[in-house]
Amino acid sequence: MDTKSTNIVWHQASIDRDSIAQKQGHRSAILWFTGLSGSGKSTLANAVNTALFQKGLRTYVLDGDNIRHGLCKDLGFSDSDREENIRRISEVAKLFLDAGVIVLTAFVSPFRCDRNKARQLVQKNDFIEIYCAADLAVCETRDTKGLYAKARAGKIPDFTGISSPYEEPKNPELKIDTGLKNLDECVDDVIQKMMELKIFT
Ligand code: ADX
Repeated sequence: MDTKSTNIVWHQASIDRDSIAQKQGHRSAILWFTGLSGSGKSTLANAVNTALFQKGLRTYVLDGDNIRHGLCKDLGFSDSDREENIRRISEVAKLFLDAGVIVLTAFVSPFRCDRNKARQLVQKNDFIEIYCAADLAVCETRDTKGLYAKARAGKIPDFTGISSPYEEPKNPELKIDTGLKNLDECVDDVIQKMMELKIFT
């Protein structure tokens, strides 16, 4: 999206990310969880958040259902609304990154193009795409929110996996079979990847 305002000048922040990282002892990053509804994104993001909090790291979770109660309450589930949803979240995640916080985002984010735009907003090592790869059959069987049953009954239009597509990540930093593994194993996989990428030691 082009910038609509004119006569605006970027103001350089007085404290940069490196100084924050040095002071707090870890760098910031975006952990971008993507996957079908019911694939365990929010559960995993929150469990990782707890583990990181216990280690004394600065973290924050941005969760799809929650953000749609506020910042994105004007958006629905058409392709263009999802695009705008992910655009806003990407920009918010970038602000957290600048603030030195490890931000965990849990959105279906079904379109590859929108996820790639989020990735391109930041530097190479700052974006960690985590594909919660539970099969549709598993998510539908779990149906924790009862939404798949409603979608199958035609009561929810454009439902991801049923009447709206989910484009699998091609090269995620991490792919976790959240349908098969238990929560602790999934958390360990994420923590391991973060250490590999030297987010903390
Ligand atoms: S996204 O596609 O724009 O990334 P987001 O993660 O914010 O979606 O919201 C998805 C959540 O909204 C799902 O977990 C589910 O609880 C709920 N939801 C309601 N309607 C739909 C729908 N049509 N498709 C997918 N999820 C929906």
